[in-house]
Amino acid sequence: MQKSYFQKELINKPMSEDIINITWRAPSNIALVKYWGKSAHQLPDNGSLSITLERSSTTTSLSFKKRQKVEKKISFEYYFHGNRQLQFEKKTAQILNDLVAKMPFLTDYELVFRSENNFPHSTGIASSASSMSALALCLVSMEEIVNKKKQNKDDFFRRASFIARMGSGSASRSVYGGIVTWGNIPFIDPSSDEYATLLSLPKESRFNHLMDIILIVSSEEKLVSSTAGHALMTSHPYKEGRIAQANSHLKKMVDAIRRDNYELIGEIAENEALSLHALLMTSSPDGLLLKPNTLHIIEAVKRFRRESGLDLFFTIDAGPNIHLIYFEDQRKLVLPFVQNVLTPFCEDGQWIDDRIGNGPELLSPQIEF
Ligand code: DP6
Repeated sequence: MQKSYFQKELINKPMSEDIINITWRAPSNIALVKYWGKSAHQLPDNGSLSITLERSSTTTSLSFKKRQKVEKKISFEYYFHGNRQLQFEKKTAQILNDLVAKMPFLTDYELVFRSENNFPHSTGIASSASSMSALALCLVSMEEIVNKKKQNKDDFFRRASFIARMGSGSASRSVYGGIVTWGNIPFIDPSSDEYATLLSLPKESRFNHLMDIILIVSSEEKLVSSTAGHALMTSHPYKEGRIAQANSHLKKMVDAIRRDNYELIGEIAENEALSLHALLMTSSPDGLLLKPNTLHIIEAVKRFRRESGLDLFFTIDAGPNIHLIYFEDQRKLVLPFVQNVLTPFCEDGQWIDDRIGNGPELLSPQIEF
């Protein structure tokens, strides 16, 4: 449940020379059915499904004040962990300029973004998902304030998901907590290629206690970024097959989640992770992102599952690091396995302890509704 998204007090406050500040914390997510391949305007080739994480997140503040002179070009600064970051600034400039058509007020203000991740770079946690989602939430909050028009909660988050998608596809899913789908999916209503949809779970569902241990096999900069990887799908020989596979996986995954069929959930998630890497390896040019230790971990997880009978499984994003997904009630058995068997395959023994989370949080202005 998102706690506070509603800026009632600011909405009726007259705009002055004041600088207004909005801060959102948005989590990352890990996909069990992968978005891989897209067309123009950030529209996905296939539907996807992810778990929103609890701890791994980006906090972004947006300060804005009215510009003296209105110009066509956006005026903004971007600080990452306190420093101007030209690479982020360039990407943000491109995204913001593209957004002007949808958010014309953006050129009327001076904008300053300050952003921080609470997880290290290149750890297998999608930083674009959390950062673009935090950025989008700030922009949609700003939109409500400057237009003096409050929307209902569903419309607010749908709009944030739509805006986040323009920055990064996977970010569209990070505006919700729990389990989230994105894409026009015939059996999910509402669903769209333009925004993500929350997959509601009963309170008693075991999924509310899903855990994720992220095993850092390598923190080296990836050779192929996700964005470059999506582009490789445009002319991939297996493109049509991949779309059919993802759609079929998505249907089976949602059914399996609704029926608590953990064996099937794990089977599909692992197949998705390996399919993503198979697609990468058979792209031209190829992208071999797995490391020998990734494979050692996969083998160890399979062996442990066979021997222990626990409901745990792995997934991998477009990199070498592994997400080990399991349930909280099995934590006592999983932790010693991770510490004794898996961490020797991790870079400096590093792993991150995370779990399914409740979604973004508005940190300031702190207004509860
Ligand atoms: C493998 O969302 O990072 O993590 O839209 O170009 O920013 P852009 O790509 P991005 O791609 C994520 C790909 C993935 C799978 C997933 O999260 O669904």
